[in-house]
Amino acid sequence: MKTIVISNRKGGSAKTTTAVNIASGLAQHGSVLLLDFDTQGHASIGVGCEPNENLGVHSIFLGRTLSETFMPTVHKNLTLSPALTFFDVYEFSDLRGVLKNRFKKESIADFFDYCVIDTPPTFDGLLKNSLEVADCVLIPFIPHYLGVVAVGQMLRALLQSAKTSAREIADVCILPVMYNPHIIEHKESVAKVKTSFGEAKLLSPIGVDIKLAKQFSLGLPIILDKKRSKGLKDYSQCINELLIRLES
Ligand SMILES: Nc1ncnc2c1ncn2[C@@H]1O[C@H](COP(=O)(O)OP(=O)(O)OP(=O)(O)O)[C@@H](O)[C@H]1O
Ligand SMILES: [Mg+2]
Repeated sequence: MKTIVISNRKGGSAKTTTAVNIASGLAQHGSVLLLDFDTQGHASIGVGCEPNENLGVHSIFLGRTLSETFMPTVHKNLTLSPALTFFDVYEFSDLRGVLKNRFKKESIADFFDYCVIDTPPTFDGLLKNSLEVADCVLIPFIPHYLGVVAVGQMLRALLQSAKTSAREIADVCILPVMYNPHIIEHKESVAKVKTSFGEAKLLSPIGVDIKLAKQFSLGLPIILDKKRSKGLKDYSQCINELLIRLES
């Protein structure tokens, strides 16, 4: 099983939009587990479900198993562990290793080809648990000055996490989102990411498409929508590039 963590501490940088489309796109290639680690529960909504007030992925921090939280979604190959709406990570002092331990105890890797984790825009126990199981960390960013700063901060957080948990640093993919090639700031920001962090980490950009915002009201990720759209084309390209990275 390959685990892809979608992460950026900067809010509103299309983490959830990317998570639901990548998870649904990968479901066309194998079995996928989507973990909605953000208590906002937007990834759950994005795949046709609801966040839950009683049982969800965060219940693993309260002694429950991961597999008892599983539920079906809009795609037969895509299983969701929804967000537990009112879970407060700050009530716990040390959550380290809980997800990693659940993966191992429940042999999760035997049941899924891919696991995609949507994370909250914070550097907390939830993000740290996700990074502990990551094979690949995908960082979506809006190509603005602060967007580039946030990518650098995320990379440093990754290094720190790898050091603390004494594991190898995960593969990193950086994804420009809401990109408009006619905006100079966007082009300059992508060029800055290339020179600062390495061209090899960069995936082809996702443009602006209002259908990517509307998909949440339908509970149908654009990647599964039969209608042709820019969002569908861009995320299809992103998944193809990601698959090549995961296989190498
Ligand atoms: N390429 C795009 N074109 C148009 N709208 C987009 C695009 N990508 C994301 N959006 C919209 O931008 C907003 C923020 O996206 P999203 O919720 O995925 O970000 P996020 O990083 O998960 O946010 P948070 O930090 O709150 O978890 C949403 O309303 C989403 O529908
Ligand atoms: Mg989100």
